[in-house]
Amino acid sequence: MLKYKALVTTESNKKYNNSIEEKNLDFLPDNNTLIKVKYSSLNYKDALSASGNKGVTKNYPHTPGIDAAGIIEHSSGTKFKKGEEVIVTGYDLGMNTFGGFGEYIRVPDEWIIKKPKNLTLSESMAFGTAGLTAGLCMRKLLQHGLKPEDGKVFVSGVTGGVGMISLMLFNKLGFEVSAITGKLNESKLLKNLGAKEIVDRNDLDLDLISPLQKPIYSGGIDAVGGKILSNLICSTSQRAAIACCGMVGGLSLDTSIFPFILRGLSLFGIDSAESLIDVKEEVWNNFSSDWKLENIDENIKDISLDELPDEIDKILEGNQIGRVRVVYD
Ligand SMILES: NC(=O)c1ccc[n+]([C@@H]2O[C@H](COP(=O)([O-])OP(=O)(O)OC[C@H]3O[C@@H](n4cnc5c(N)ncnc54)[C@H](OP(=O)(O)O)[C@@H]3O)[C@@H](O)[C@H]2O)c1
Repeated sequence: MLKYKALVTTESNKKYNNSIEEKNLDFLPDNNTLIKVKYSSLNYKDALSASGNKGVTKNYPHTPGIDAAGIIEHSSGTKFKKGEEVIVTGYDLGMNTFGGFGEYIRVPDEWIIKKPKNLTLSESMAFGTAGLTAGLCMRKLLQHGLKPEDGKVFVSGVTGGVGMISLMLFNKLGFEVSAITGKLNESKLLKNLGAKEIVDRNDLDLDLISPLQKPIYSGGIDAVGGKILSNLICSTSQRAAIACCGMVGGLSLDTSIFPFILRGLSLFGIDSAESLIDVKEEVWNNFSSDWKLENIDENIKDISLDELPDEIDKILEGNQIGRVRVVYD
């Protein structure tokens, strides 16, 4: 039987270990489509899965990796043919279904998207779930009617995966962006990517400053949550819209009702994993056309499977800058 390499997270006495192992294909779950993975990418959720977060992954041994781009090897369904280039992100991939940190995945047809023509497999994993999430946030804000002329927008967690692609997208679409970061030493990089100004996240990472603060932002994308989002909510202008998707800054919101009832603020929650497949497809198609980011391959760190355990530690410590792409032979 064909053997393949995968990162396997094992549990022993509530401690979690990540190592690269060789497995038989029958290690994979019994779904209808087998894909040879060419690229994957590292997301914060993968690091949670690889470090024993039971909200993400219940059972170990496990192979994380919520993203995969590759080639159909075999399908017993009618939707995909051997040799087709495809993308899989989210649903249960990498959570309780063995994910993209292995050379093969076996998944249901319903999770698979045919790669758009004007996007390579490699580019698709420069976006990965982080990019898809930024795209889903942008889709919501544009549907709300947010326009560059409404005023300045923010991106929080901006040196991270979701944040950096959000910044690039806002910039591409002509918005003036405030980049909120804990890494002021990355200001030059952020300005090169289109940030108009840099805001120190420590200035916002405080108990609620006031229930109704100066109306600075017409909207934004928040990848952080906690006190930072609580304060940003109160710093929005009339009819503003925020899309929120992350929790690296904390799970709680201790904010104020005033921006909602006095300024008509809309707060949209984004869940990329369970988004409908046609909505995901729409965003991937946007990335290959109107939202094409010519510089998406810059600030990407390409690594092999063997290098993943170190990168997982780094993302957990909040020290990752931009995106990490896993490249298979
Ligand atoms: N809802 C969804 O569908 C969805 C999808 C993807 C990701 N997410 C979530 O979005 C968040 C970001 O994901 P990611 O993949 O972009 O992660 P990431 O690459 O690790 O980026 C997170 C960024 O947040 C900032 N940060 C780190 N620790 C922080 C802290 N204690 N307080 C405030 N900011 C902190 C850092 O940027 P700065 O130093 O520049 O501030 C860091 O680079 C995570 O919570 C992830 O779970 C959600």
